Amino acid sequence: MAILVLGGAGYIGSHTVYELIATGHDVVVADNLTTGFRAAVHPKARFYQLDARDHAALSDLFAKEKIEGVIHFAAYSQVGESMSNPLKYYDNNLYGATVLLQAMQEHDVKNIVFSSTAAVYGEPERMPILEDDPTKPTNCYGETKLAMEKMMYWASQANGLHYVALRYFNACGAHPSGQIGEAHNPETHLIPLILQVPNGQRQKIAIYGDNYPTPDGTCIRDYIHVSDLAQAHILALDYLLRGGENNVFNLGNGVGFSVRQVIDTARQTTGHAIPAEIAPKRAGDPAQLVASSAKAQQVLGWQPEYTNLADIVETAWQWHRTHPNGYEK
Ligand code: UFG
Repeated sequence: MAILVLGGAGYIGSHTVYELIATGHDVVVADNLTTGFRAAVHPKARFYQLDARDHAALSDLFAKEKIEGVIHFAAYSQVGESMSNPLKYYDNNLYGATVLLQAMQEHDVKNIVFSSTAAVYGEPERMPILEDDPTKPTNCYGETKLAMEKMMYWASQANGLHYVALRYFNACGAHPSGQIGEAHNPETHLIPLILQVPNGQRQKIAIYGDNYPTPDGTCIRDYIHVSDLAQAHILALDYLLRGGENNVFNLGNGVGFSVRQVIDTARQTTGHAIPAEIAPKRAGDPAQLVASSAKAQQVLGWQPEYTNLADIVETAWQWHRTHPNGYEK
């Protein structure tokens, strides 16, 4: 029996495929390669280029492969773009999930681990954030992910689907082998943008706002290594295959770092001065987002390995230093 990873050519998907293969799983990857890269797919995974909205192609795949569980990453994930083009997000994220769940139902595949986000919480009321805290997304991306969680809930009530939704905080870092890493176009995430400065691709890093109600005035986030996220998917899948009930888990380190602290860490890692300048706030950025991952630790037995920000930034730097243009030659 194989595991189907939809979106397995993307950032978190490709790292999860590497961990699945390292732990002896048979892996099938499906990706439309709109934002993912063929080169990011592990050579031992069987690859299908298809779109999650293509019912016929998905049905063919389920008919051909014996799939015991699905890990679903395939979605658009840029907060800013989701605000200017919300229908693009509804179409890909929600319609894609609808077609996937229909095809799973038709082929009697019951287990799905789903890639959700801290963006489902919106502006949090308390810190650290717990899974049953209110979900009030402040952007369309988070809204589509929350709607996908709810779609799985109702499908589970009606037809026995088993699901786990994993709400990631700030995914970062790269595979320790240096073979795969983060590659977005355009890049919007803090750590890869900072590392473009020592890589000679950017003069300075912009700090989006320095008058937030935080100790140094800049936003605080919970940075979690992509390999630790990958491990959590495998644990969640094992949990479902053992008969675990439907569940939702936060995934973060439980420690917040400010934008300034992340820049300082990158300065130490790279030995570069990395000039920074204050820029206007980015719309919709909460001051602080820190996870409680106690539930994932207790129920799944998940324990992040990369608990030190410098180690996380080091893996990111190894990747970006050696792949300044990502997967492009
Ligand atoms: N930031 C800067 N300068 C930059 C880029 C980012 O100061 O050039 C700041 C942002 O304002 C934010 C922090 O760095 O305070 C982190 O920003 P990222 O864009 O790296 O990440 P976000 O916290 O905005 O987004 C992440 C995920 C989203 C998810 C969101 C949940 O990437 O998918 O967390 O709130 F929706």
